[in-house]
Amino acid sequence: MTDRRGLWITLEGGDGAGKTTQANLLETWLSEAGRTVLRTREPGGSEVGQLIRDIVLHHRGDIAPRAEALLYAADRAHHVATVVRPALERGDVVIQDRYLDSSVAYQGAGRVLDADEIRNLSLWATEGALPDLTVLLDLDPQVARTRLDAADKPFDRLEAEKLEFHVRVRDAFLALADAESARFLVLDAAASPSEIADAVRTRVASLVTDR
Ligand code: TYD
Repeated sequence: MTDRRGLWITLEGGDGAGKTTQANLLETWLSEAGRTVLRTREPGGSEVGQLIRDIVLHHRGDIAPRAEALLYAADRAHHVATVVRPALERGDVVIQDRYLDSSVAYQGAGRVLDADEIRNLSLWATEGALPDLTVLLDLDPQVARTRLDAADKPFDRLEAEKLEFHVRVRDAFLALADAESARFLVLDAAASPSEIADAVRTRVASLVTDR
């Protein structure tokens, strides 16, 4: 993205990797340092997005893979245009749970659609918007499943997919991080929350001093 002063950080990883915990810790740290922080997420970071989130996560019955990909892309288009871009133009730090890498991993590798097509769909939807930093919390899907079971919440449509699906999703995230190593920070999500938070802060500190 051009013409902006803010900083855009996305968190990615499988379900149960601890993205929300890390987003909370990062938000507190940046707010205490005096930055204005906007916390947001996909799907569902706007009013329109909430409606789309309800469909993609809770619709009973199948959604054709291409329709699912378009629903996530529609959520993303509206979210970037009405929430993320304005915040970055104001100079805020945007901390966002999930972005286009989730589509490439879940709809691409998970639902087995073409990865480049999925990525290009999102880039079209957002006029090419890419974050300054993407933190990938990498976790063995079997360990993630144990964490989700312990949380004792009902599974959404994606979480309910079988282990092989989540193994493909994990591999896709790692491949994305490899292909764009300058944008990604890959961390072992089996480490303690405070160790992970320290690593995230170190990287973010190097980015905020430039701004
Ligand atoms: P998330 O908000 O992380 O779930 P939770 O509220 O349970 O933490 O994500 C919702 C689900 O949507 C998650 O299983 C991943 C999936 N997803 C996609 O399949 N494609 C996408 O583009 C995005 C953003 C999410």
